[in-house]
Amino acid sequence: MPQRIIDFAVGRTNPETFPIERMQRAAAEAIAREFVELTDYPGKLGHPGLRAAMARRESEREGVPVDPERIALTNGSMQGVTLVAEALTRPGDTVVCEKFTYVGTIGAYRSLGIDMQGVPVDEEGMRVDLLEAKLDELGEVRKPKFIYALTTYQNPTGATMPVERRRRLVEIAERRGIPIVEDNCYGDVHFDGEKPPALFALSDYAGIVYLCSLSKILAPGLRLGYVYAQPPLLDPILARRHDAGSNTFAAAVVAELYRDGVWDLTEELNASLKVKKNLVVDGLGNELSDLCAWSNPAGGLFVWVRFPDDVDLDRLARLAAERGVHYAPGANFHIHGTRIPYLRLAFGHVPDADIRDGIPILARCIREARTSNAAREFDSLFD
Ligand SMILES: Cc1ncc(COP(=O)(O)O)c(C=O)c1O
Repeated sequence: MPQRIIDFAVGRTNPETFPIERMQRAAAEAIAREFVELTDYPGKLGHPGLRAAMARRESEREGVPVDPERIALTNGSMQGVTLVAEALTRPGDTVVCEKFTYVGTIGAYRSLGIDMQGVPVDEEGMRVDLLEAKLDELGEVRKPKFIYALTTYQNPTGATMPVERRRRLVEIAERRGIPIVEDNCYGDVHFDGEKPPALFALSDYAGIVYLCSLSKILAPGLRLGYVYAQPPLLDPILARRHDAGSNTFAAAVVAELYRDGVWDLTEELNASLKVKKNLVVDGLGNELSDLCAWSNPAGGLFVWVRFPDDVDLDRLARLAAERGVHYAPGANFHIHGTRIPYLRLAFGHVPDADIRDGIPILARCIREARTSNAAREFDSLFD
């Protein structure tokens, strides 16, 4: 067993910047004020204060009104992923998604017996230019029950869909009467440039379901996320819910923490994440520029790395484990589990010193796991 573990495997937030004292004050305040609510059940939508805070978050980011009565708090956005799929599909039904997507979603869809149909991804997210062909190929019989899209800082690739592609996605879905589930849980883990609009800000299409989370801007241990949708979809989603609602205590504390809005704290936390992302990207640039390609995302928690086909994936896994460097293999994010020459580096919780030390170790593992000395056969992250 290696003495020191450097963990690039798991997508987490940064414990070094967790706002301990502010959370302590918020918790004391919330308990004193809301102990009566704590003795009751939260109901299907959940804590009104946090719903109002999240409606404000969405509305301030997107510049459109957001009704807190159409937001339902969930046990992380993962519960949203699952509830939506349960409400809209039956075993054997088809869902279209990016070919590389979030491992938790893949697991949930698989266990619900969903037939996942993948659309290729490039630096700008789902290849919407290939979506119509995919839908034509599926035909009426296998028409998808919805399209699941990670539009901003996609997990695992870090890709962000530009606004024109977003418009086209909504236009295609609406014209064909297919709901879209937009999972935006990284949207506010933002480092550079403009934030692209969420799909609901681009269209009145009532078939858009929007998922978001507190996990990525604050802490996944809170298990707070939310679904925002219009009644024709929100009602059946809520009808699937049999958990008596989401945790009032966590919601009350976070609502108090964000009493003046989410942005100040979020920007503070993002500044440290940007440093980490740059350390990863610079480290890869120093070590692997002749051999690999990688993303340089403007937000999110991951860098997606492509390496040559001649890397022996099992040998790479063994070498990295022996040397204490953990990463997430590309196969985890492929909708069919296909072994692909990619890996994902999560940096949110990794101390800066570990990033500096870990990337050169990983780079040596990649080089040693090669089975030839041939020059790499690609210039970009995607074919
Ligand atoms: C794309 C995506 N959606 C949803 C989730 C679930 O997060 P949570 O349930 O903590 O909000 C994650 C977590 O990594 C994710 O990457």
